Amino acid sequence: MTSNYIHLNRLQKLNSLLKEGETLIIFAASHQIRNRDVEYKFRQDSDYFYLTSISEADGILVLQKDKRFHFCLPKNKSEEIWTGIRLGKEKIGSLLGLTESFELKEWSEKIEEILTNTSTLFHFFGKDSNRDRELIEVSARLNRKLRDGKFGPNRIEIPEFLHEMRLVKSEEEIQFLREAAVITDLGHREAIRASRPGIKEFELESILESVYLRNGSWGGGYGHIVASGKNATILHYTNNDDVLHEGDLILIDSGAEKNYYTADITRTFPVGKQFSPLQKDIYELVLSAQESVISICKKGVSFLDLHNKAVEILTRGLMDLKLLESNLEKNIEEGLYKKFYMHRTGHYLGMDVHDVGKYYINGKSRLLEPGQVLTVEPGLYFDPEDTDIPDKFRGIGIRIEDDVLITESEPEVLTFRTPKTISDLENLKKD
Ligand code: GLY
Ligand code: MN
Ligand code: MN
Repeated sequence: MTSNYIHLNRLQKLNSLLKEGETLIIFAASHQIRNRDVEYKFRQDSDYFYLTSISEADGILVLQKDKRFHFCLPKNKSEEIWTGIRLGKEKIGSLLGLTESFELKEWSEKIEEILTNTSTLFHFFGKDSNRDRELIEVSARLNRKLRDGKFGPNRIEIPEFLHEMRLVKSEEEIQFLREAAVITDLGHREAIRASRPGIKEFELESILESVYLRNGSWGGGYGHIVASGKNATILHYTNNDDVLHEGDLILIDSGAEKNYYTADITRTFPVGKQFSPLQKDIYELVLSAQESVISICKKGVSFLDLHNKAVEILTRGLMDLKLLESNLEKNIEEGLYKKFYMHRTGHYLGMDVHDVGKYYINGKSRLLEPGQVLTVEPGLYFDPEDTDIPDKFRGIGIRIEDDVLITESEPEVLTFRTPKTISDLENLKKD
């Protein structure tokens, strides 16, 4: 739990968005089995945590206009000895300012009462099919009582308004993201310094995770990508078990999660001490695309403008390298550049690495607004088996990624500390 009560302001804001006859239900995460009786490390659901600051499993938050309910695990000494102290319904009642606080055993009966005469149910369906089915069944059951003058929800909708709230970060959330960036920087620097021929990728992964944990973070906010040589051409490579070779580059995409907010940084650098001339040329091209995109991360620019900017610079560069024919329009219109640049240039960042919020509004790419945080992460990837390109390119993968806050004026790069020019990266590797 966080020590403050930011969730109360959020609940209040949400209350102002809810109308009579609407109910919003948010489920906490549950422990998940990894194998036999071993569980995965627990991470609270982001929406639930955003609204409750409670890191305990299995709770259910139910909101209606001017009413707030919650269901939790019961206090139970013998179970708490095994799995940890629970808050209990009294404490949660006062933490969340509840109308009524229940235990989970009351769920089936009470939810039917609460949903009676609700017309719209907001619920993130699609995450847990058992929950989806349960809520459809309660709604259907209530709607069979029409003759008694009762009804249940006839619409189940995803509460996009909650994700729109999460999309615009408060000063406090931005501070959490800054802290995550500081810890991530320490991890990347230590991994860059430690990289050398002969070691294995997981040795660098262990440095990242250990620096993150040592500095008070939860650990990586997503699976660390430590991809040397041709592994960097696999976008979500997480095997991390290959040997590092002199002359290769290595791509690390990793971010620490602190206070439930994650950084997302990618750096690509030589396994040994220096970039080769060809690696330098490609790196400079990706860097120029990344810096140009960052420079236009401003209020009023659309998300698509950012991507188009990266595509244009990378495509021109690919033409200069003679990897694409010299017809810019055709290369872009026919998507020929996608052979080397096949992903989007960025995404929202926050509690989830691919954070929530709409990218399109009424079919149009959304305009950036102050308080949004996004990544800028262009890259170039040359298939190791592509015999249509000169051998020297094959197996090179380069991505450079920073986290950027949109402000009223200039963009703020939250991850500015982490070296990314060729000379800064090479200097870090000098003994
Ligand atoms: N680490 C996943 C991404 O950069 O989107
Ligand atoms: Mn990213
Ligand atoms: Mn990333």
